[in-house]
Amino acid sequence: MGIQFDEKKQLFKMDTDHTTYVIGLSPEGYVGHVYYGRRLGKLCKNALLRMEEKPFTPSVNKRDKSAFLDFYPMEYPTGGIGDYRESCLDVRNERGNLGSEIFYKSHTIRKGKPGLKGLPASFGTEDETETLEIICEDPILQMEVHLSYSVFGKEDVITRNVRVSNHGEETLRLEKVYSACLDMDDEDFEMLTLCGSWGRERHIQRARIQRGRQGTASLRGESSHQEHPFLALVTPETTQETGQVYGMHFVYSGNFKAQVELTQYDKVRMVLGIHPEEFCWKLEPGCEFQAPEAVLVYSAEGIGKMTRNLHDFYRNHMIRSKYLYKKRPILINNWEATYFDFNSEKLLSIAREAKKAGIEMLVMDDGWFGKRNSDNCSLGDWYVNEEKITSGLADLVKQVREIGLEFGIWFEPEMISPDSDLYRAHPDWAIRIPGREPVQSREQYVLDLSRPEVRDYAYESVAKILRCAPISYVKWDMNRQLCDMGSAYLAQDQQQELFHRYVLGVYEMQERLVTEFPDLLLENCSGGGARFDPGMLYYSPQIWCSDDTDAIERLRIQEGTALLYPLSSIGAHVSDCPNHMVGRRTPFATRGNVALAGTFGYELDITKISEEERGQIPGQAALCRRYQSLIQTGDYYRIASWSLKSPYDCWEVVSKDRTEALVTYVQVLAVPNSHSTKIRIPGLNPDGVYMLEKTGECFTGEELAYCGFLIKDLNGDFQSRLYHFSLVQE
Ligand code: DGJ
Repeated sequence: MGIQFDEKKQLFKMDTDHTTYVIGLSPEGYVGHVYYGRRLGKLCKNALLRMEEKPFTPSVNKRDKSAFLDFYPMEYPTGGIGDYRESCLDVRNERGNLGSEIFYKSHTIRKGKPGLKGLPASFGTEDETETLEIICEDPILQMEVHLSYSVFGKEDVITRNVRVSNHGEETLRLEKVYSACLDMDDEDFEMLTLCGSWGRERHIQRARIQRGRQGTASLRGESSHQEHPFLALVTPETTQETGQVYGMHFVYSGNFKAQVELTQYDKVRMVLGIHPEEFCWKLEPGCEFQAPEAVLVYSAEGIGKMTRNLHDFYRNHMIRSKYLYKKRPILINNWEATYFDFNSEKLLSIAREAKKAGIEMLVMDDGWFGKRNSDNCSLGDWYVNEEKITSGLADLVKQVREIGLEFGIWFEPEMISPDSDLYRAHPDWAIRIPGREPVQSREQYVLDLSRPEVRDYAYESVAKILRCAPISYVKWDMNRQLCDMGSAYLAQDQQQELFHRYVLGVYEMQERLVTEFPDLLLENCSGGGARFDPGMLYYSPQIWCSDDTDAIERLRIQEGTALLYPLSSIGAHVSDCPNHMVGRRTPFATRGNVALAGTFGYELDITKISEEERGQIPGQAALCRRYQSLIQTGDYYRIASWSLKSPYDCWEVVSKDRTEALVTYVQVLAVPNSHSTKIRIPGLNPDGVYMLEKTGECFTGEELAYCGFLIKDLNGDFQSRLYHFSLVQE
């Protein structure tokens, strides 16, 4: 691992255990992208900058400078000066002209990695990471652009971020500040993205790249159900185990754009950053703007290796919570059990039954405050509804704890209902365009979190409740997207900062929460999984993955989520059948096996399900206790994908020391007139002998990986099995 600068060759070389990233400087100081890929030893030339080819560099051929600018592989391209590909930085001066050009000025290389002010960001010790900062300058605008790169050797990740500072006398308007760019030669790349909808989040999508610009983006004020702030380029032959993958993932929870452009010269430019539409930052003299972090990952061993590297990276360098590797309570949430129709007695009856079954925490979801008996009111009025919670919240918590369960609670702190005392007192606290009735979504408006007193109010609403009772868990929900972007607080020339300031406001509030309540288990949520992104992981070790809790729909949703995120972060529960969203009936055991590949819990009325199903809960709870640590810490392998038309779905978690593995197999539809199914189980020590727990049969790691393993006697739709292998001989 390390970063070196070769002064003679004008090359920066950054190495992780298996990858190398090279940046070169042209004679004029243009910062160019030379190489990203498999790890290299020595490097003799910065040939890929093609400075010896026409149109040459401007110092050799000023006449064709624009041809140079439109061709040179830029590390961080600026707009308005003749590079017609997608720019990363667009700056407008006081006269209204758009144009900037940046040149290398100096650099620093240091151990460790500084944090990003006000933003979530990866972290690492001085032994784990090193940081290169290249300082570039636009001498005309007197603006500096700091390009930072941190190298995480073991996880094969390089993170990037950008800071722009105004050292001149004019106010600059930043109309676009992306966080990362990769300019490379095309290799017939295909584009891998995640897309979906409410209840169908993060389905994997792969498509050929065409000439021109394509990608994925959100303008919804959150990372969204529909798109995901991730884009990877993969070579056509890429599978789980083979082929090249270049991934970019954004540590941000608001509007984003991830794009790849196939240019006239068959080069690709891949960019990632805050979406420039509806973004403009006023940068006054002496001020700076910090853009969020981008995570770059390269794998020469297929998608699976990228996945495992990202899982390790997020576990080791993004999730701060003390619960990361700690036992998470098996919870029961009353949302799908009761929706808004509950009171203390109902909750206590669920708690009593849950305790008997081995469940460890009761979570009281939406509907406990104000006069909220449906989703049409009371957001903002965070005082307990004593018609429902008759003896008060503190007493309910006490009673639940006496039953032997921990207590968790739901909030939606970022919102305001038009029918709320808060809105009647402060209509100007809602985001809105003056003179226009804001669009309602779920009959609610969004609080203007750019405004400090609104953040204080919203934060205190949560904190004062947590201060008055021993509450172990908070589900922080956010149930609508943003629109009608107007703030009564921000100046006229800062209205286009609102989307970003909103996200900064959320981060500030969550930072306060985890600082004041370090023992709290926080789960983020957004109408299911609309804000499942690395930014939120910095605050909460787990995120509710989707409102669709049907085990079969979850196969696809959880596969897409686990493409990037560790299983320990994926909120997954067993719910009732027929499933509330799709009406499907699946075996209780399958619902449990699928939820095990996540945080595990229940989302049903345990007092109403059948004896037979209730009787399965203690066994499932025992499985969760037994395998949770393996699932939280192990290496994840995707064996088969129902989403890719396989008739079954299958994944595996292998312990880091290769002494055990847990394989989950789900038969989606039974196939008539078929034999047993062979699956290959990778990742184990080839020479080790492993015993299958249920039967006592033994296999070598090699046999499992290459000859395969037979799934037999599984009859019926939606049936599933868990197979646990443990090492019996090295
Ligand atoms: C959306 C969440 O995803 C659900 O789990 C539930 O908490 C509802 N909101 C409550 O309004």
